[in-house]
Amino acid sequence: MTLAELEEGKKISLAEIAAAEGADAVEALRVKYVGRNGSIPALIKAMKDVPKEERPAFGKAVQAWKKEVEDALAAKGAGASKAASGKVENVDVTRPGIWPELGAAHPISKVIAESARIFSRLGFTVADGPDIENPFNNFTALNTPPHHPSQDRSDTFWLAADALLRTQTSPVQIRTMMQNKPPVRVICPGRTYRRDTTDATHSANFHQIEGLYVDVKPVSLADLKSVLSYFAKEMMGDGGVRFRPHFFPFTEPSVEVDFRCHVCKGAGCKVCKQSGWIEIAGAGMVDPRVFGHVGWNPEEVSGYAFGFGVERIAMIKYGIPDIRWLYENDLRFLAQTA
Ligand code: PHE
Repeated sequence: MTLAELEEGKKISLAEIAAAEGADAVEALRVKYVGRNGSIPALIKAMKDVPKEERPAFGKAVQAWKKEVEDALAAKGAGASKAASGKVENVDVTRPGIWPELGAAHPISKVIAESARIFSRLGFTVADGPDIENPFNNFTALNTPPHHPSQDRSDTFWLAADALLRTQTSPVQIRTMMQNKPPVRVICPGRTYRRDTTDATHSANFHQIEGLYVDVKPVSLADLKSVLSYFAKEMMGDGGVRFRPHFFPFTEPSVEVDFRCHVCKGAGCKVCKQSGWIEIAGAGMVDPRVFGHVGWNPEEVSGYAFGFGVERIAMIKYGIPDIRWLYENDLRFLAQTA
């Protein structure tokens, strides 16, 4: 292309722009001349084929063409928003903008993650087990005989004669001991299932965190208490822990564990129903019969186990009055614990 031809092209383009009517026509010309695949960028690209001595004059002419076309397009209102800026009316600049939706961990996930963090500082690792268990792991090895009420069809979701939805995370104790040698120090978070009718405090599917520590050196109830006290302090902000005698088939002695109310610090309030204490966990020293079931010599090892409900901790920690809120996935609720 010669300089004269270039000049001619410029004239035509400016005439076309001047004659264009309507935003679409202007936009089409913008694309035609200065769009990414337009004729002016094509000329700029082709510059390398122009003889060296003509290149400066040619380049100047192309740039001038480009500028004139852009100015002409702008005058015609191309890029309307740009052209309009400065004379924008009826815009409320104090209106909140559009916020990106931020994701956050669910309260149940948060309690599990926080528990794993706290217990990891005490040397506990996380163990895992399946939701579908066999009756040996869920009952027999845990010293729970067939006539025990928890095995009843009205309490347990049986899938077959040899398969059920685990009613507790305690079978992971059995799996852990069968797969390892002492010492073991694990927590096992997971889903558990019971044939409960759903209401404000019950759900047929909930979460527990199991704890198990077994060693070849003597382990005592005092060790258990100190570990749970540390957990209570880190998780709830108050380290007060109280043991009440209880019964579980797989621990002896067994206790129920109360945490001192983190709201009133024991003085009595609505959260703890004026008692100053909140029931949190079941626990005890591993029953020698359980060691027998996993092939460990009860004369050589001793240990403790504990288990608590994740929903319960979440409800107390975040002040959630109804367990169902944890499963409804209502963002108005979830956003408040984020
Ligand atoms: N598995 C018991 C329950 O679900 C809790 C528990 C765990 C008790 C470990 C003692 C030791 O109620």
